[in-house]
Amino acid sequence: MASTRSIEVLATAADLFHAVAEEFVRAARTAIGAQGRFTVALSGGSTPKSLYSLLASSYPSFVWNRVFLFFGDERHVPPTDSESNYRMVKESLLSKISIPSENVFRVPAENPDAAAAASDYEAQLRRFFELKGAEFPRFDLILLGVGPDGHTASLFPDSAALDESSRLVVANWAAKYNTYRITFTFPVINRAGEVLFLVSGADKADMLQQVLEGKSTPALPAQRVEPANGNLLWMLDEAAAAKLKR
Ligand code: 6PG
Repeated sequence: MASTRSIEVLATAADLFHAVAEEFVRAARTAIGAQGRFTVALSGGSTPKSLYSLLASSYPSFVWNRVFLFFGDERHVPPTDSESNYRMVKESLLSKISIPSENVFRVPAENPDAAAAASDYEAQLRRFFELKGAEFPRFDLILLGVGPDGHTASLFPDSAALDESSRLVVANWAAKYNTYRITFTFPVINRAGEVLFLVSGADKADMLQQVLEGKSTPALPAQRVEPANGNLLWMLDEAAAAKLKR
């Protein structure tokens, strides 16, 4: 069970992105104050672009050299591909801030062998977090989105990665896209200090109602995000929250 689970609804998308940026900076400052660094896994897709641009433009005094950026999932494409989450983050954030290159951990998704790319990324996590044996990393913050089918990261309904309980990062066959994706597994996501779902827009309203108020069997991937010893925060705009009963 998450330590705390809360849902915040902001009136507009602009209010939402501002609120999420504030929460990102708050979490970062708290972690840096407590342990001298902030480890965060970014989400991909289109929604977070505005968040990353806001982080780049609205916090000039924010110091990035204690921030360590990872990717919760990545498409199986080179970093220059229009589908690449890394490219999206580079264009919206990395190209606009001064962050040491060694603080950014990119998934080597250009590797034609998706499983090898996943293993390589897992090795990067193990090295950075100095993991021993079956330990999992504890990210200070993991940002997530929700897809129209209830997927999160690249954990799609009925996909093999849903049952992974020992590996940190896997190559997951995304049948609907007919391609592999590289993704964190639930043990990593559910070990985070805070998981923040950023969901915006009317096109997410139906799925959000299912995820937050429905009882799907089996549970939708987004419903299986339950940080065991961390906070679960849903940050929505009115449009995305329109179908919620409470
Ligand atoms: C990805 C994301 C994915 C995303 C959802 C929502 O690589 O696409 O990690 O999980 O968060 O699909 O995507 P949108 O924000 O584009 O709706």
